[in-house]
Amino acid sequence: MTDELLASGGARQPKREVVVGVSGASGLIYAVDLLAALKSAGVRSSLVVSAGAKLVAPTELPEGPKQLKALADVDYKDSDLGAPIASGSHLTVGMVIAPCSASTLAKVAQGHADTLITRAAHVTLKERRPLVLVLREAPYSRPMLVNMLAAHDAGATVLPAAPGFYHNPTDIGELIAGVTSRALDLLGVANDHAPRWRSVAE
Ligand SMILES: Cc1cc2nc3c(=O)[nH]c(=O)nc-3n(C[C@H](O)[C@H](O)[C@H](O)COP(=O)(O)O)c2cc1C
Repeated sequence: MTDELLASGGARQPKREVVVGVSGASGLIYAVDLLAALKSAGVRSSLVVSAGAKLVAPTELPEGPKQLKALADVDYKDSDLGAPIASGSHLTVGMVIAPCSASTLAKVAQGHADTLITRAAHVTLKERRPLVLVLREAPYSRPMLVNMLAAHDAGATVLPAAPGFYHNPTDIGELIAGVTSRALDLLGVANDHAPRWRSVAE
């Protein structure tokens, strides 16, 4: 029996897997946090980093894209349209694109699938699995707003990289976790990654 089958209790099903796409928006720290949280949750991650993200990486990640790859179970090139995650027959629990650029949002909203990230997103939608787009841009242009609605109508969840403050974050890590914990929730990954709202009376 493989390690993955053992990890799933011997059942004839693969270990739960989430596809993590990283596109060329600011906010690569969201991807770092998500990959680490998936690892802690015992959920396998398949990582794809776009060419745009590789341009952003040196400004935001001390170790560049290597920092992301070190946290993933497997990583694929964005040009690898033959990767397992390009097919709906490959079982995943869903996909998150974090951060998600305006350009990747536009492609996902319109069904363009000419890169592995956009193809895997298209597959996630057609298989009706959760697709979470952690958008990072400000302010939003009209095309972005229209594309957000189209992505939403196609079945994706638009999760702006806009943390809440009700859990009284005291550092950047807690701010980031405020967003990534919601992404994990939307993917159905059980987590205590950030404090949850409790009634003000409690
Ligand atoms: C340093 C840097 C920061 C960027 N930040 C953003 C951003 O926050 N949001 C965004 O939508 N695009 C941003 N861009 C532009 C995208 O990288 C660009 O549109 C790219 O074509 C996106 O391609 P991708 O979606 O395939 O990764 C940034 C570019 C650079 C170089």
